[in-house]
Amino acid sequence: MQKICNSSNQHFSTISLLLSSAALVSSLSLTIRNDVAGNSSSTYLYGIMFEDITRSGDSGLYANMLRNWNFQASDNGSAPTTEFWEPIGAGKISLDAENALNKANPHSLRLDVDEVDDDGRAGIANMGWWGLRVQPAEKYTASFFAKSDSYSGALNVTLEKKDGTVLASQTVKGLSEEYKQFSVSFPSTSASNVSTDNVFAVSVASPEAKNAVIHFSVFSLFGETYKGRENGVRKDIAEAWADLNPRFFRFPGGNNLEGESIDTRWKWNETVGPLEERIGRMGDWGYWNTNGQGLLDFMYLCEDMNMEPLLGVYDGYSLDKSSVAEEDLEPYVQEVLNELEYLTGDASTKYGAMRASHGRKEPFKLKYIEIGNEDFFSTTTGYRYKAYYDAISAKYPDLVFIESGLQDSAKVDILDDHYYKNHSYTIELFDKYDNYPRNNTAVVVTEYALHRAESGDPYKDDLESALANGVFITGLERNSDFVKMMAYAPTIAREEANAQIANLFYFDTESIWLTPSYYIVKEWGTHRSDTILQVDASNGGFKPLYWVVGSNKEKNEIYVKMINIGESEQNVSFDIKGASVSKSAIARVVSGQLHAQNSKTSSPVKTVEQKLELNSTSSFDYTFAAYSATVLVLSLN
Ligand code: AHR
Repeated sequence: MQKICNSSNQHFSTISLLLSSAALVSSLSLTIRNDVAGNSSSTYLYGIMFEDITRSGDSGLYANMLRNWNFQASDNGSAPTTEFWEPIGAGKISLDAENALNKANPHSLRLDVDEVDDDGRAGIANMGWWGLRVQPAEKYTASFFAKSDSYSGALNVTLEKKDGTVLASQTVKGLSEEYKQFSVSFPSTSASNVSTDNVFAVSVASPEAKNAVIHFSVFSLFGETYKGRENGVRKDIAEAWADLNPRFFRFPGGNNLEGESIDTRWKWNETVGPLEERIGRMGDWGYWNTNGQGLLDFMYLCEDMNMEPLLGVYDGYSLDKSSVAEEDLEPYVQEVLNELEYLTGDASTKYGAMRASHGRKEPFKLKYIEIGNEDFFSTTTGYRYKAYYDAISAKYPDLVFIESGLQDSAKVDILDDHYYKNHSYTIELFDKYDNYPRNNTAVVVTEYALHRAESGDPYKDDLESALANGVFITGLERNSDFVKMMAYAPTIAREEANAQIANLFYFDTESIWLTPSYYIVKEWGTHRSDTILQVDASNGGFKPLYWVVGSNKEKNEIYVKMINIGESEQNVSFDIKGASVSKSAIARVVSGQLHAQNSKTSSPVKTVEQKLELNSTSSFDYTFAAYSATVLVLSLN
């Protein structure tokens, strides 16, 4: 019997588990076979799938805090407006189509200044994405383009509360008849606590500005980004991702790669270069995408988080079910070849040189490419996949090809299976790959999440859903010689976007909060096995317990990952063959009430760590809590 204590309260006087001998006799026995060769487990098993869905890109991961920052279109993709901007004081604002910054940004924000009296001012204010988060210890940087024929005095750039209380302020000078970019940094703020009822403002306060007209274009405002990356990602979101230990990153979609139509597909070349050259598009999820976060930014994120990029490329099929005809495919294929040259070509190539001009001379290494998204919905996959495969593999023979719809027109290295199933079916999927033929094609599951179609609340991200997801991924990990990658999807959603799908975690402007599924995925992903060990069971089998056991040579550890979907605790006797383990072990347990959900203000379900003292170095027993996901971390002697 093991002794157990909860390290979260540092209470080391042990709590012995009272196991009746009857329970011990009838309990499940598992023999961990470290004495026979296991299956190797994929290095890239746990990762992240990302696309801009439910405001997860602009307004979320992409850290630009301003909304409608370049007036290319309104939020719903219709004609541009001044939405999310308001005039300050003696200012009037309007949208101007006569003073383009450049081709990509034909509209500017026009400020007309009335008379400014001695203590008055006139200006523009951006409301942000459901507010602007200003925190006491955070540094901010802002930039914008501006010009004026009639005023050349100072512009005050401020972070302020909606009532006008200034939290940080800088002044820029040099306004002239030609557009010029102005940049400021706010090394500190006077905020005493975190707040979001704030605005970003640019204003004039001089009587000289009377009757002035000032044009503004392409704004940005960033707080501190993950790893300090310029034009980077929101730190708290990225840190929660990094805590999952993701080993791959699939981007930019998902449906959002495909476009609602062929013409509105994600076009890599419109997402690169300085912000003022980027061209937004109507995304597939009901709102405008600015492309402020683009191809190069995603590649930097992969480097910053040590994730292998899995690049999704458009393959001539869009969400309205339209396919590019076979005879018209060539320019679309060429678009992808250009994209690959942009990423991997050296600076002597046309697109490699373009990348270098964007600040990145060194080519990226790219291993995985996914041709299209969910081509299993299409009837034209055959000729499209072949056209892309033939052209890309001829130039990039080392790329590993992932396809998303079965066809037999060209070679496939890996098939991408997606699972959005109901509760019982998700659990049944546990052994889906146990007897799959291990031929030359492997599988990745780059999208999965429970959709409880049978329930009135199909996307409830409670512990019950998380445990079903946990059973599913435990089955995938058991087969991770063959299932090479997996990712929950979608990963993140903005609270105000009213996600219709259960995400891994949520955010608003102020903070993030993690679901029960997040905690299970984190425990499974951070305890990475390089080898999956054989486990022999007696006195029972799967259900309500589901397990996978693996070892990590570098860490010299064995991980027992166990899901208990049952309402009762379950005792299991373990024997370890071919290894001796330290008597000091750790259990990391995610458990709680079956229908418990986490929220912004309360997280009843999270990981609790227990320190264990085992009786022996080769056998022990452990009682798995009702409704729980547990990782037992055993150190090899
Ligand atoms: O995860 C949401 C969507 O579900 C993805 O964009 C798409 O690939 C899938 O159908």
